[in-house]
Amino acid sequence: MKDELYAIREKADGALAQAQTPEALEELRVSLLGKKGELTQILKSLGRLGAEERPAMGQLANEVRLDIEERLDKAKRAILSREREARLREERIDVTIPGTDRALGCRHPMTIVMDELKELFIGMGFGIAEGPDVELDYYNFEALNIPANHPARDEQDTFYAEGGLVLRTQTSSVQVRVMEKTPPPIRIIAPGKCYRSDAVDATHSPVFHQIEGLVVDRDITMGDLKGSLNLFARQLFGEATRTRFRPHHFPFTEPSAEMDVSCFVCGGGGCRVCKDSGWIELGGCGMVHPNVLRMQGIDPEVYTGWAFGFGLERMAMARFGISDMRVLFENDVRFLGQFAR
Ligand code: DAH
Repeated sequence: MKDELYAIREKADGALAQAQTPEALEELRVSLLGKKGELTQILKSLGRLGAEERPAMGQLANEVRLDIEERLDKAKRAILSREREARLREERIDVTIPGTDRALGCRHPMTIVMDELKELFIGMGFGIAEGPDVELDYYNFEALNIPANHPARDEQDTFYAEGGLVLRTQTSSVQVRVMEKTPPPIRIIAPGKCYRSDAVDATHSPVFHQIEGLVVDRDITMGDLKGSLNLFARQLFGEATRTRFRPHHFPFTEPSAEMDVSCFVCGGGGCRVCKDSGWIELGGCGMVHPNVLRMQGIDPEVYTGWAFGFGLERMAMARFGISDMRVLFENDVRFLGQFAR
């Protein structure tokens, strides 16, 4: 029995040196120490020995078992640590390699101007209203005191679709939609896209932006219009800005005016941006025509109002020193990237 035990121990030595994986070790453990393992068989047969022999053999068998268990353990730890080291080597990260640069986008110059205007008017107590780009003839013309065959339609030729639909030529359509739904007092702005059948050149585009404003309340006068628009102009273009109101005609306002601001680049002396005139034209304004109020069920004897509609492209061009409107629509990132902050 002693020889058998030594033989097992020797066999274990050889096999341990061969086993390279945790699985091979486990196999070895089962074949020696498992229920049907060689050493287990011997331990089981101890009972057949005589009483004098048994304690010594038992002790030896146990020593061999402990010895094999210990070396199996040690071999397993060695294999696991080799494997871990190999994995660490493999998954090593070089933290000095430069990262992937993710370029951040920036706001479009039109968006910058639009956001600024919204903020200013919200600060003056205005709400923001919206209307559809594809609009009924009624809201775009009819209800703005521009009946069919009115000559004002000539200047605003647009794209007509079936069913009395047009691509809106002016954000003034939103005035009507707001008055139709909201009883006075009304104080809103409506920024958005407009469409006219214009050929593209440095100062024209068939798609452009306007910002509309409308105030309707009791006792509103031309003084309110001028006071509010003067305040707006000084906040947007600087304290030194002067304004100028030139008589004009719009079917939906009476009286009507075109509003200019003194050039914020040269201060009025004349330069490239204002084309040597000293003034920059913002757009139209005036007192809401009684017909327009009446059509929406607002009594012009009780309520009066003022309105404006400014072109946003021209403002953005003046503001950023852009001489050709087309760059605003061409989406060249070399141009747009200049507005990153
Ligand atoms: N809708 C006019 C246009 O596109 C601009 C305009 C003028 C709007 C006077 C107004 C206004 O609200 O009162 O030419």
